[in-house]
Amino acid sequence: MHKIIQHFVQSPVIPVLTLNEINSSLKVAEVLITEGLTNLEITLRTPNALKCIEAIAKEFPQANVGAGTIVRKEQLQQIKDVGCTFAVSPGFTKTLVTEAKKIDMPYLPGASTPSEIIELLELGVTFQKFFHAGNSGGYKMLQAYANIFSDVKFCPTGGIGAMDFTDYLKLDNVLCLGGSWMVPNKDVENGNYDKIKSAAAMIMSAIKT
Ligand code: 3PG
Repeated sequence: MHKIIQHFVQSPVIPVLTLNEINSSLKVAEVLITEGLTNLEITLRTPNALKCIEAIAKEFPQANVGAGTIVRKEQLQQIKDVGCTFAVSPGFTKTLVTEAKKIDMPYLPGASTPSEIIELLELGVTFQKFFHAGNSGGYKMLQAYANIFSDVKFCPTGGIGAMDFTDYLKLDNVLCLGGSWMVPNKDVENGNYDKIKSAAAMIMSAIKT
């Protein structure tokens, strides 16, 4: 993961997208990347997710296009084959961590409890997704983890929104965060690209202040 950590530091809000149609996927990606949200996580939750990822990765080589909801080891090679530059899971297994290392895929596995965080540390993972952030104690839990796990950096996701994402970003142990709030599926389906653009612009201005 270390190879692409700099991308997350530079653009620390990662839109989490669930896409199923190539043309609207390209349009959404263009809006987000143009606004400066250059790290995108596309979930493997639709029949055409891999095709959408492939189209975006080809069209926007300057972006960092990752896949989320990785739950089986073979998905890691599948996403590599379509041009993904990182992989994200809501949880983890030793099999997933080992496979990602083997095929050289930067991998962000998920944890929420102290035991899970420790288990990931045992596997050498010091950059972890904190999931489901909103239901697992939010930024206050991460604040508490900072004293205990001083060598772990987190990417919280799940239940984060416009009202609280800056609270997370203020924490030293938060490198970046992910969320779907700026790109609701309904807005993608209805082609509300101006709304998505405004949400992205608001995020960018909040990050800069
Ligand atoms: C997810 O897995 O869907 C992400 O963590 C995003 O969660 P959110 O939709 O609550 O932002």
